[in-house]
Amino acid sequence: KLTLRRHLHGERIIVLANREPYIHQHDAEGGIGVVHPASGLVSALEPVMRACSGVWVAHGAGDADRQTVDAQDHVRVPPGEESYLLRRLWLSEEQERGYYYGFANEGLWPLCHVAHARPTFRTEDWQQYQQVNQKFADAVCQEASSEDPVILVQDYHFALAPRMLRARLPRATIITFWHIPWPNVEQISICPWHRELVEGLLGSSILGFHTQQHCNNFMEAADHFIESRLDREDFAVIRHGQRTLVRAYPISVEWPHHHASEAPPAAQCRAELLAQLQLPPDTLLGIGIDRLDYTKGIEERFRAVERLLEREAALIGRFVFLQIASPSRTQIERYQQVNRDVEELAARINARFGREGWQPILLRRRHTEPADVFRLYRAAQLCYVSSLHDGMNLVAKEYVAAHDDELGVLVLSQFTGASRELREALIVNPYDIEAASGALAQALLMPAEEQTARMRAMRRAISEANVYRWAGRMLIDASRLRRREQLIELLT
Ligand code: F6P
Repeated sequence: KLTLRRHLHGERIIVLANREPYIHQHDAEGGIGVVHPASGLVSALEPVMRACSGVWVAHGAGDADRQTVDAQDHVRVPPGEESYLLRRLWLSEEQERGYYYGFANEGLWPLCHVAHARPTFRTEDWQQYQQVNQKFADAVCQEASSEDPVILVQDYHFALAPRMLRARLPRATIITFWHIPWPNVEQISICPWHRELVEGLLGSSILGFHTQQHCNNFMEAADHFIESRLDREDFAVIRHGQRTLVRAYPISVEWPHHHASEAPPAAQCRAELLAQLQLPPDTLLGIGIDRLDYTKGIEERFRAVERLLEREAALIGRFVFLQIASPSRTQIERYQQVNRDVEELAARINARFGREGWQPILLRRRHTEPADVFRLYRAAQLCYVSSLHDGMNLVAKEYVAAHDDELGVLVLSQFTGASRELREALIVNPYDIEAASGALAQALLMPAEEQTARMRAMRRAISEANVYRWAGRMLIDASRLRRREQLIELLT
């Protein structure tokens, strides 16, 4: 954390992200409560902001958000700690529909994930996306207190903002991080405005992805679609004299995790949860925690559980898989569909294997606060992350971070960025139901010493490559870049 602050040289960071870290909502008692959204981006970036301070610019999505801001639409967060500012922007229904639901989540999201959902691109959505990017870029400029602020632009909601910011603040250090995969040239060209996306992102000083493959794909897109020069040694794109470094920065979780000291030990978490679920204390518990999204492979996961029970009859009545699925992007038809499919599948499997007082799949489709999620991670002997395609997947890293007992097994899709770092997980192809169910069986039968050896190695990897390191590496690269630019200015 200290290194992070040092690299900022007292500069306050401006974060631009669609999702806000704290959502104010009216509660049933007529008061106002705070909800922490289910978002990998938020869980990664929030500890960084607590460490560095600054301002986070985001869409005010809570129904009580307006009641908590001052005249500049600012509110100090985290509640009670108040270490940085949250600046909220208000979107009309039309803007939210076109920019967020439409272009970002019906267009770019399925375009960038190989999950066999066809993307939809509408001109009206694109127009809203452009306007909303400009609106947010303007707000960021208002928040800048110098000519050369450090701005962290987050994710596929804001592909155009870096260029817009560069036009207004030519000396800014703009670090953009794309949290989802960047597809190959053929695939990205499906978007009618792929050139504009690439040009928009090239307003950045640094453009980060989770993996080298996504960096390579982006470089190739820049080479194919726009007039630019590639510096393949330094991994940079040069366009109109603007140099953009393209780098892999695998995102991570805070270490130590701030819930680690508050939550009871694993055995107690498990005993309490099983008592609450009215299950015997020797029940074996598996867990899945996701936004209810078709890229997460929840149906494939349930099929693997079904196959597990077919092949290991001894687990019937003994093993329970608890799936927490936070409702997400519920206005989009494809998300309504996955909600129905997941529900039907769980019901079918439960009808097939369930018996008095026991069901193999417990499906909880509601928002769960991060502190409670942390206890669930601790309680579970296994966690299955079965994403069909995922930039990183922080559930995998959080499960490991929660297990300071050095027990528990992570079964992890080979199609996540996390599988490149967490080599001691049981890595599976989630489409291969036979192999995935075999991995679940292996996890449940794994001797404690092997669990500890694997968990210890993964914990070591995450403790070193934690989220402060993620942000720190970007800031170090940014400060090198700033020094280089200052030198060039001096010499010319
Ligand atoms: O991890 C990708 C991501 O889109 C993040 O950008 C986002 O915070 C998270 O998924 C949750 O999605 P949403 O913000 O649409 O609820």
